[in-house]
Amino acid sequence: YPLGNKNTLGLESTAQFFAPFQTIEELLELSRWARERDLPLHVLGGGSNVLMPEFVQGLIVQSTAASVRLVEQNNDSVVVDVDAGKNWHQWVGESIALGHGLENLALIPGTVGASPVQNIGAYGVEVSDLIVSVTGYHLSRDEERTLLARECGFGYRDSIFKRELNSDFIICSVRFKLSRAFSPNLSYAPLNSLQAKENSLTAQMLIDTVCAVRSSKLPDPAVTPNAGSYFKNPVVSESKAQQLRSVHPQLPVYPQTTSPQTTSPQTETNYCKLAAGWLIEQCGFKGKAFGPVAMYSKQALVLTAEKGAGLSDVHALQNRIQKAVAEKFGVTLEPEPQIFGQSR
Ligand code: EPU
Repeated sequence: YPLGNKNTLGLESTAQFFAPFQTIEELLELSRWARERDLPLHVLGGGSNVLMPEFVQGLIVQSTAASVRLVEQNNDSVVVDVDAGKNWHQWVGESIALGHGLENLALIPGTVGASPVQNIGAYGVEVSDLIVSVTGYHLSRDEERTLLARECGFGYRDSIFKRELNSDFIICSVRFKLSRAFSPNLSYAPLNSLQAKENSLTAQMLIDTVCAVRSSKLPDPAVTPNAGSYFKNPVVSESKAQQLRSVHPQLPVYPQTTSPQTTSPQTETNYCKLAAGWLIEQCGFKGKAFGPVAMYSKQALVLTAEKGAGLSDVHALQNRIQKAVAEKFGVTLEPEPQIFGQSR
C-alpha cells in the first residue's frame, strides 16, 4: 500500500497493510487480525510529523472518525470530545463557536488524534493547556483506556505517547475544556501588534492573524512537502546559554520552565530554550538544497523535500546539520518528527 501521499514530506514509502477505522470496535477487530498474523500495528494521523521509511512492516490503521460531542457546559467553560480523525485546523475553526483557547494553534497540519502525541504548540499555547483527557486503545493491555492530562506526561513537544506508550496506544478521541470568555494570549512577538486592538479583537480575527503569520514563514505542505519544524528548539542550561550569548549576542534565548528529560535535575536547575532556526541559519543552511531535500528559505528550521526524496536523503541532511551546529555552538539538535513504525 503506497504511503507517499499519506505523509506531508511526501517520502516514498510502502506499507505491508493499511486499513481505515471508524469505531473502537472496528479497531479491536483490526488489532485482532494483526495479532493472529503476528504483525505489528501502527497508527497514522495526518502524517505531518512523521518520517516514513521505505517499507513499513505490519498493519497501519488510520481513524476516519471526526465527530465533535458536547460533554458538559456551564457559564465558564465547555467540555467537548473530538474524534481522532478530525482535521486539526478544521476543529480549531469550529471550536470558537463553543469556546476559546485554541485560536493560536490554527493552521497546524495534522489530526486531533495526533495533537497530544507531540503536544503541538505555537505562539505561546500548547495543546496540553486545553486537554482534559485522552481516550484510546492500549494495545499490550488489550483494553480501552482514558488518561487524564496529568497522566499524559506532557512536556515541550513531548508526551507519554512518544515515550512509554510509543507504539502501544492508539488515540481514538481527545477531551478539551474551552473557556467561554475570550482572553487571547498575545504574548508572542508576531502577535504583539494585536494588543492595541484587544477590545475589538474577535477569535476569528486572531485565527486569521495566526494563519497569516504562519503562511508568511512556513511552507504549505500541499505545495512544498515538509513536516513543520524538523528539529526541536534545544533546551540548555542557563550557564551554557550565557556562554553562547557572550560570543553570539544575537542568539534568541527563551526561558524554559521544565527540564529536558535527558538532563539530571541535580546538576542543573535553570534551563533556556534556544532558537534552532537561528543556529541552523548561522551555519549557512538556510535556503540550501542537498539533492532532493533543502532547508526552507524563509525558516531554516523547516526541511522541505522534492518528489522522489527518501528517508536516507533526509537523514543525510539531518546529520550534516547536527554536526555543523555541534561544532559551531556545542549544542545537540534533536529531530522533532519521529521515524514511523519504529518501536522504542
Ligand atoms: N530564526 C532565525 N532564522 C530562521 C528561523 C528562525 O533567525 O531561519 C529566529 C527568528 O528570527 C526568531 C527565532 O528564531 O527570533 C524563533 O523563530 P520562530 O518564531 O519562527 O519560531 P521557532 O522557534 O523557529 C517554534 C515552533 C513552531 C511554532 C513557532 C511559533 C518548535 C520546534 N517550533 O518555531 O512549531 O510554530 O515556534 O510558536 O518549537 C512545529 O513544531 O512544527 C512548528 C512549526
